[in-house]
Amino acid sequence: MNILILGGGGREHAIAWAVAQNPKCDRLFAAPGNAGIASHATLVPGLDILDGRAVAAFCADTGIDFVIIGPEAPLAAGVADRLREAGILTLGPSAAAAQLEASKAFTKEICAAAGVPTAAFRVFDEAGAARAHVREHGAPVVIKADGLAAGKGVVVADSVDMALAAIDAAFMIDGSRVVIEEFMEGEEASFFVLADGETVLELGTAQDFKRAFDGDMGPNTGGMGAFSPAPLVTPALAERTLAEIVRPTLAEMTRRGTPYQGILYAGLMIGSEGPRLVEYNARLGDPEAQVIALRLGAQLLDAFLACAEGELATTRLNWADDHALTVVMAARGYPRDYASGERIILPAPGDPRVVIFHAGTSRDPDGNLVTAGGRVLAVTARADSLREARELAYNTVARIDWPEAHFRRDIGERAVAAAG
Ligand code: AMP
Ligand code: GLY
Repeated sequence: MNILILGGGGREHAIAWAVAQNPKCDRLFAAPGNAGIASHATLVPGLDILDGRAVAAFCADTGIDFVIIGPEAPLAAGVADRLREAGILTLGPSAAAAQLEASKAFTKEICAAAGVPTAAFRVFDEAGAARAHVREHGAPVVIKADGLAAGKGVVVADSVDMALAAIDAAFMIDGSRVVIEEFMEGEEASFFVLADGETVLELGTAQDFKRAFDGDMGPNTGGMGAFSPAPLVTPALAERTLAEIVRPTLAEMTRRGTPYQGILYAGLMIGSEGPRLVEYNARLGDPEAQVIALRLGAQLLDAFLACAEGELATTRLNWADDHALTVVMAARGYPRDYASGERIILPAPGDPRVVIFHAGTSRDPDGNLVTAGGRVLAVTARADSLREARELAYNTVARIDWPEAHFRRDIGERAVAAAG
């Protein structure tokens, strides 16, 4: 079959890498893609991936049989709706169902209706009432701008002053509402499932590293590294997450006439009383996709197809007893201002357990590999132990010739130490 992947980050490179290995994949396209995805797929840089009708027209012209939507923006824009209307098999929820990611206020309402454990919260349309609420309840407290803010809309405020400043900043984001949340104690893990409206299939767990610098310091980023599986998510905790969080949410979506079909990413806070929901995303994480795709390989396409076809009930994934870890190499300055067009020289492919996924790369006019984004590479390795995966990834990072790169040196360090 001919397959189109929408997106052009490290997540989409990992998906393309996995899909291209599956014999079911005949021709692979990616829009817009990047220089790494170009080694698996034909790039379609001119296609507006937020325009569902344009994507459907491209699919009709090119004979695309299956579309995999990587990022959240096309989902929120209703691209999956337009594709399904055009009769094209698609992985990704409708715009109505993708509100689980696009609107924090909507998610809180679903959680309340379905009895899903999450932080207590209030929604404010107006700064004065929000400020009064914070003054009354004190800190720590979490301030979230409603709508898609790529992680940047969330401030965990340790003091009332910090919370008040965050409220003012949030109301400067156009048309925003603000969600003020109880601060939850615990450790975070990412829990991924596929849902086809009836059945749920676990797609693995991961832990990611959102802060820019070692020791979880510095600003929030899209993610500077990840590993899978997340040791916090024991089989018993996974069962509880499905029973108390994921299934009740999906049942509520179905009850409302907007069944959820696609990848559901539950961000969990695991505290002394068990798992609570931090947030939902309607897609795979980036860079969590890189570690999950490396572990699943070609099976990822079978699972995605079964999800889109409503056949998860008869689908099984084969998990090896393995570990994967990814280190993101970013442009210096990310997540703030950074340069593009820096030259990168990659080592010749060596150990098959290591894959260098591209997140933001392109080619200069002479065909040299250059940086073209904040997060640039995700150096990903898979091995029998997390320790070994970590060593393989960092040894490869050291062999990449790009002196200006910034990366964290502590991805997976604590988990390796804890594993003994
Ligand atoms: P979100 O975009 O909702 O995932 O929030 C980004 C990050 O802020 C999360 O990954 C958590 O680290 C943190 N966070 C969000 N909400 C809470 C909360 N209620 N309690 C503690 N930390 C939170
Ligand atoms: N790595 C976090 C995310 O993709 O949302």
